[in-house]
Amino acid sequence: MSGSSRIQHPDFARKVVPAEEAAAVIAPGETVGMSGFTGAGHPKSLPPALARRISDAHAAGQPFQVDLWTGASTAPELDGALAAVDGIARRLPYQSDPVTREKINTGGIDYLDVHLSHVAQLAWEGFLGPLDIAVVEVSGITADGGLVPSSSVGNNKTWLDLADRVVLEVNSWQPAALDGMHDVYYGTALPPHRRPVQLTHPSDRIGVPHLRVDPAKVVAVVETHAPDRNTPFSPPDDTARAIAGHLIEYLEHQVSRGRLPAGLLPLQSGVGNVANAVLSGLQESRFEQLTAYTEVVQDGMLDLLRSGTLTFASATAFSLSPTAIEEFTSNVEEFRDRIVLRPQEISNHPELVRRLGVIAMNGMIEADVYGNVNSTHLMGSRMQNGIGGSGDFARNAFLSAFVSPSTAKGGAISAIVPMVSHVDHTEHDVAVIVTEQGLADLRGLSPRKRAQQVIERCAHPDYRAMLTDYTERALHGAHGRHTPHLLDEALSWHSRFLQTGSMRPV
Ligand code: COA
Repeated sequence: MSGSSRIQHPDFARKVVPAEEAAAVIAPGETVGMSGFTGAGHPKSLPPALARRISDAHAAGQPFQVDLWTGASTAPELDGALAAVDGIARRLPYQSDPVTREKINTGGIDYLDVHLSHVAQLAWEGFLGPLDIAVVEVSGITADGGLVPSSSVGNNKTWLDLADRVVLEVNSWQPAALDGMHDVYYGTALPPHRRPVQLTHPSDRIGVPHLRVDPAKVVAVVETHAPDRNTPFSPPDDTARAIAGHLIEYLEHQVSRGRLPAGLLPLQSGVGNVANAVLSGLQESRFEQLTAYTEVVQDGMLDLLRSGTLTFASATAFSLSPTAIEEFTSNVEEFRDRIVLRPQEISNHPELVRRLGVIAMNGMIEADVYGNVNSTHLMGSRMQNGIGGSGDFARNAFLSAFVSPSTAKGGAISAIVPMVSHVDHTEHDVAVIVTEQGLADLRGLSPRKRAQQVIERCAHPDYRAMLTDYTERALHGAHGRHTPHLLDEALSWHSRFLQTGSMRPV
């Protein structure tokens, strides 16, 4: 299908311009809200054109930066291109781009790491400043001016409503058959006008299939035919398989003890290879009739849907490998009735996560012996990606698990430490910690008992004795015995790594 046949409304068709011309409507210092979530549904043509413009301006000695808001992570042609030309002043709410990460960590970009369900509310509250322009990818424009969302919904509804001006990218690479898969809820409001969100099952539809926009605000339409980021997943290695095995065995045990129903509760699975391995593990488990209320549909989830193990998945975006996207594109019709994509304020909504009783499974960088989890920072100061939706789910889930290999950097780093170097999820929000060594169920345990479990079950054997030694000395040396710490030593493992390249004693 050609790009233009995707634009069925004449007023929008008349506004089609090349990407360079559309990029020219963005002025230095403006705030731009772009679509995009986990490399899906971001604009593909305008951002590189904007980056070229910024680069030319800089070459001519003129300052040019924008503030950039998105749904979540995007792709090299968006985050990467703009960061490479020092075109981003402030960025929110999540990224995973290596160039952007470097600029954040060298102080070149001001980064606001925000819970993904909070972004729309923060933007509406107004204290982030006005949103000047929205740049949103859609897969089509209907005859009555409805916007057919593409492979992510993210914050698009909010950007389209809030921005003064709008540029649409109509991407004919996105399957036309995506139409009907989305559920855009227009019932949100700021307090005191907020009302309950009437969703009681992952498959409930509470909104409309299309986004709307005031046509008078649309200043340009760009046609593209370009793929999403489509990062390949590496096949699960032994470590990922072991982590998945522990978690699935645990879920089976919870069912046998009557603590979870046979079909479990709606699953949320974080991004990355370990999360994908857990989903692959579920494929081989005895679970059936599963559902998902999650943020992204990745390869493993698509496999579960195809096999029928998963009956329904609610999310805000896809995050598929090139192989999976091919399979999805050839079978969209088959998947369309079993996947719904929603705005991220709904996919990650605390009220809904709590009501549905989601089982949350997310990756982490490190956990401490008492169950506090760091999902974002390496060695205390260096931002990796961001908190994403992990806090939306962990805090409100029925059961919240965090997973990681027990070591990093060839064993030089222990993922289980005396005290985390940054806290994203507190001991109060973390129910289960899993490494390839085993699983610690922290529910109902006091801090000292949690420490025993985490050390015995999750720590790598090379670090177990050191952790036990720390907690025992802390118990006798600290000024309080509830959560005993030796403050001079609590972060010494991290300092040692920074000084010597290993957490092991020299
Ligand atoms: N200390 C220091 N560095 C560590 C570390 C630790 N404890 N654990 C891992 N690392 C390093 C790795 O060595 C790797 O470095 P490299 O890029 O130089 O190789 C880097 O951190 C990333 O680790 P990796 O194991 O590849 O991460 P991952 O892909 O499994 O992702 C998170 C783990 C925590 C970064 C990821 O899950 C994340 O961003 N989570 C937050 C957002 C989230 O949970 N979203 C889902 C919610 S729906």
